[in-house]
Amino acid sequence: MTTIQRTVGAEVARVEGREKVTGTALYAYEYPVPDALYAWAIQSTIPRGRVRALDTAAALALPGVVAVLDSHNVFRLRPTDAPELAVLQSPDIAHRGQIVAAVVADTYETARQAAAAVRIEYDVDDHDSELMDGDPRIFVPETVNGGHPGLMEKGDVEAALAAAPVVLDVTYTTPPEHTSTMEPHATIAVWDGDDSLTLYNGDQGPWMTADRLAAMFGLPEGAVRVVADHTGGGFGSKAVPRPPTVLAALAARAVGRPVKVAATRQQMFTMVSYRTPTLQRIRLGAERTGKLTAIWHDALQQSSTLTPYCEQTVTPTRVMYAARHRRTVHRLAQLDVPTPSWMRAPGEAPGMFALESAMDELAVELGMDPIELRVVNEPSVDPETGHPFSSRNLVACLREGAARFGWAGRDPAPGRRREGNWLVGTGVAAGNYPALTRPSTATARAEPAGGFTVRIAASDIGTGARTALTQVAADELGVEIDRVTLDIGRSAYGQAPWAGGSMGLSSWGWAVAKACRALAKRLDELSGALPPGGLEAQGDTTEDVEARGAFSRHAFGAQFAEVRVDAVTGQVRVDRLLGMFAAGRIINPRTARSQLRGGMCMGLSTALYENLETDPRFGDFANHDLATYHIAAHADVRDVQAHWLEEDDDELNPMGSKGVGELGIVGTAAAIANAVYHATGVRVRDLPITVERVR
Ligand code: MOS
Repeated sequence: MTTIQRTVGAEVARVEGREKVTGTALYAYEYPVPDALYAWAIQSTIPRGRVRALDTAAALALPGVVAVLDSHNVFRLRPTDAPELAVLQSPDIAHRGQIVAAVVADTYETARQAAAAVRIEYDVDDHDSELMDGDPRIFVPETVNGGHPGLMEKGDVEAALAAAPVVLDVTYTTPPEHTSTMEPHATIAVWDGDDSLTLYNGDQGPWMTADRLAAMFGLPEGAVRVVADHTGGGFGSKAVPRPPTVLAALAARAVGRPVKVAATRQQMFTMVSYRTPTLQRIRLGAERTGKLTAIWHDALQQSSTLTPYCEQTVTPTRVMYAARHRRTVHRLAQLDVPTPSWMRAPGEAPGMFALESAMDELAVELGMDPIELRVVNEPSVDPETGHPFSSRNLVACLREGAARFGWAGRDPAPGRRREGNWLVGTGVAAGNYPALTRPSTATARAEPAGGFTVRIAASDIGTGARTALTQVAADELGVEIDRVTLDIGRSAYGQAPWAGGSMGLSSWGWAVAKACRALAKRLDELSGALPPGGLEAQGDTTEDVEARGAFSRHAFGAQFAEVRVDAVTGQVRVDRLLGMFAAGRIINPRTARSQLRGGMCMGLSTALYENLETDPRFGDFANHDLATYHIAAHADVRDVQAHWLEEDDDELNPMGSKGVGELGIVGTAAAIANAVYHATGVRVRDLPITVERVR
């Protein structure tokens, strides 16, 4: 008898790596679909009003143009809970960049040329695109993204602040930011009659997208199939369908032929969502020992007039530190702007920039080491719900991270270390990201020809999910990894949540484990005598997920940064980032490390560079390409290390895993801002940390 090598925990290379680097992996736009036409979206040039008239004669006269679509000649969609997806359903315009018409033609270039020839007359209304505190339209939403309460309160935060020996009251801002995936949004829509639709779509959640599109077109479940074998990055922007996907489906239905839509890099900046700006006021009350008595975190954000999307920015503060008196509140203004949505740790990333900057400021005020301040305020149970943590190793992350980074003996005084023109400093911040799980289904099949096929509507957006799921399957089946094929990316494989909220592997892996375990058991009962047609088993985790105990489930991390700041120009360089994380069991160290480091690079990017400049005159962003919206590139990223602690947690899923997709970004920006303060004595409370803010 041979021993099967267990693969969970092993550094397995991406199973689709060869396909990707040899260019044979198909992305949405590349599927060979015969007879396809091309649609080009025409976007509103005004922020508010309506389309009065459309002159399409010149466009239609161009050879190769098949149709010009607007609100008069497309299918009437069923109402949806995502009004921003009601593409071309009305002449009304709620933001600049909204799709107001589209040209369908035999080539992409013709469609684009014809779009420029369409003349649109608008009725222009007054607009207001500026997020301002004090705006009478601001309200507190009952719930925010993720179903969290808009407001949570405990004790008497105002009285506690009035009585506190040490009080900090500071305001931080973060700008709107753009997801900017490497693969721009692309869709091919293929109708078979009027009641069956296939979408080749860059997608974080094929089943979720299919379900939503079916409802919008008034079709039964399963009538829309989404194919997303490979997706080139998501960052939240492909977690739900965006207007270009709906446009492809509408256009294909209107012309009776397959239609391809590919957003240009420029179009993506207003069509596929962005992160809301935030204005966050934090008030902390503390004893001289550092013990927090009061935490008040208030975040003002924006959405469009179409839908009250509110990012869950203060939710990480609900989990981090003990304090008897607390208030965490979201406030929202609906403006004449494009609709924001999920982006790279929505809530946690901007929220923890504010909280962890404030903790650093409080440590300075108290003359306390910032790590010790955090340790003093470590809660024994979830401070809001009172539930026990399924596991919480923040203190261990801080201690172990400090040891690896070389924190001991740090002189806390700012602006003291100089190397030539460079001022050098170090900073620390903590982070958490919820360990979410949703019901999922999977099918495992023993093939008559040998080997195993596992099917699940998961999506691999570059994370390594396909590989990690293959490892989970191989171990449950008790076979070598090369005998297992993971088929993912197709809605037809059944209910499955997104590659989003860092819940992919935890949710899908559970269903895969369950299906494979059931199959292995049946094979065992048959003593290996496989029926001629093969053998199949299902795994559905709906009941398992619902039956879990009441625990607070979160991954934690500590981030350390060393920066140098040019004393003359104010330029900031991040010499070193070190993250120490605790995220349950790591299924694949190779891909997990890549995830965590990628998140840290995104954190660096938001700390120093990323910034959509809103021009209130136009209700739009002035920068809309990767030249004017800089995302950290190789030259900006130096030494980025991600490490983790062994963490056992039986209250998660059969793998014992927490997600690592977004944990890496949480806290990074604060660690860098805190290091900039340590280097220079300048406290930058507004991201990004540009030269004029440091000098
Ligand atoms: Mo991620 S922003 O939760 O898709």
